[in-house]
Amino acid sequence: MKTIIEPFRIKSVEMLRMTTRDEREKLIREAYYNLFYLHSDDVLIDLLTDSGTTAMSNRQWAGIMLGDESYAGSPSYFRFKEAVRNLMPFKHIIPTHQGRAAEKILFSILGGKDVIVPNNTHFDTTRANVEATGARALDLITAAGLDPASTDPFKGNIDLEALKDCLEKDGDKVPLVMITITNNSGSGQPVSMANIRAAAKLCKAHGTPLFLDACRFAENAWFIKKKEEGYQNKSILEIVREIFSYADGMTMSAKKDGLVNMGGWLALNDEAWAMEARNLLILTEGFPTYGGLAGRDLEAIAIGLEEVVNEDYLEYRITSTSYLGKSLTKMGVPIVQPPGGHAIYVDARAMLPHIPPLEYPGQALAVELYKMGGIRACEIGTVMFGRQTDGSEKPAAQDLVRLAIPRRVYTQSHIDYVIECFKEVYTGREKLKGFRIIYEPPMLRHFTAKFTLL
Ligand code: F0G
Repeated sequence: MKTIIEPFRIKSVEMLRMTTRDEREKLIREAYYNLFYLHSDDVLIDLLTDSGTTAMSNRQWAGIMLGDESYAGSPSYFRFKEAVRNLMPFKHIIPTHQGRAAEKILFSILGGKDVIVPNNTHFDTTRANVEATGARALDLITAAGLDPASTDPFKGNIDLEALKDCLEKDGDKVPLVMITITNNSGSGQPVSMANIRAAAKLCKAHGTPLFLDACRFAENAWFIKKKEEGYQNKSILEIVREIFSYADGMTMSAKKDGLVNMGGWLALNDEAWAMEARNLLILTEGFPTYGGLAGRDLEAIAIGLEEVVNEDYLEYRITSTSYLGKSLTKMGVPIVQPPGGHAIYVDARAMLPHIPPLEYPGQALAVELYKMGGIRACEIGTVMFGRQTDGSEKPAAQDLVRLAIPRRVYTQSHIDYVIECFKEVYTGREKLKGFRIIYEPPMLRHFTAKFTLL
């Protein structure tokens, strides 16, 4: 059959609250035109993030009841550890309450002044955690990765030439290299196995560890299976294991491909760093067998990790994201091609050329989508990345709006509704106006900035 269906049926539902355009105009004005300030029950289709928004399975909910809440040595921790190790065979698995807590611990150990951390593209929390230690977060994405129109299948690849130069010139300042799979801030594009392998070889030659920011590892593995020569007949499990065989450690937000609502971990092989990490963990997260999590959360992650490598699940997941991408492309909406795994990234700068980057075309589009249909999306552009460490501002490389698809939450008719809203917004695009920021914090400003309409 050609129709790819959601490979699940629904046992429990959450009702949505319908709102009118007039209500939404008032609500978004009162939220200072920042979608993060909206109450989520005023949102109809929430595409703000795919993080922590997953619908857990009946097996995971059953697992929750098996959670053992002992302070130390809980069997839930050991089940969690084995489930992680089944995919990612690192020596030390250190649970944290979410991905950024793992980043904070890692960079507290390895960051510092004069340190450089290369990555294909740092996610915003990763960049902030690197920079908070005084270190420099260096993005080394390939030219194809920055070209929204390029249909290169692996636009998440790290630029190997640039990485080589960096290691040759500044190797003594680089305590680790990171690669983010899939490359979220680079529009959810995958990284090829060949690229990970080659980066690992370069790192090894310089004695530098390679860490993966692996939030969406299963989606990345699916792209490798579908698009990289030599992997069509390998199972996802084999591909995932090969990916991690090249790495010395990882940070993870289980809120994505852990298929849970909260959780993460830091995993690594180095004995001394692991000891330091556990000491920091005790200070900020908790005892090493629970990190920042309850025993029941650890059970849910263990089961989520089994479910996320299921190939029927991944086929549905990636196909439903590309269904949205292809429909938008067909109506003329410029999106980053090809569609990524967890999200579609609309090129707001190209769609709204009359709004200059410093008037935030991405914010203009995101706000209009909310007004039009109660859809909440996320600007990933000059609002998120425009502020420089010295407080000045410049346009980000791109002005995108991310439509992130929560896992196992929305059906095809929800997505058809999103497509219909886009049709209306696209038709009236020339009337949209930009914004000015009237309040911003010094870091991660997109979460709490306040805007006024120009
Ligand atoms: N790394 C990447 C690539 C991410 O996408 C995220 C989170 C993190 C690290 C941090 O993980 O949220 O558990 O602390 N991304 C979410 C998003 C917030 O919406 O893309 P966290």
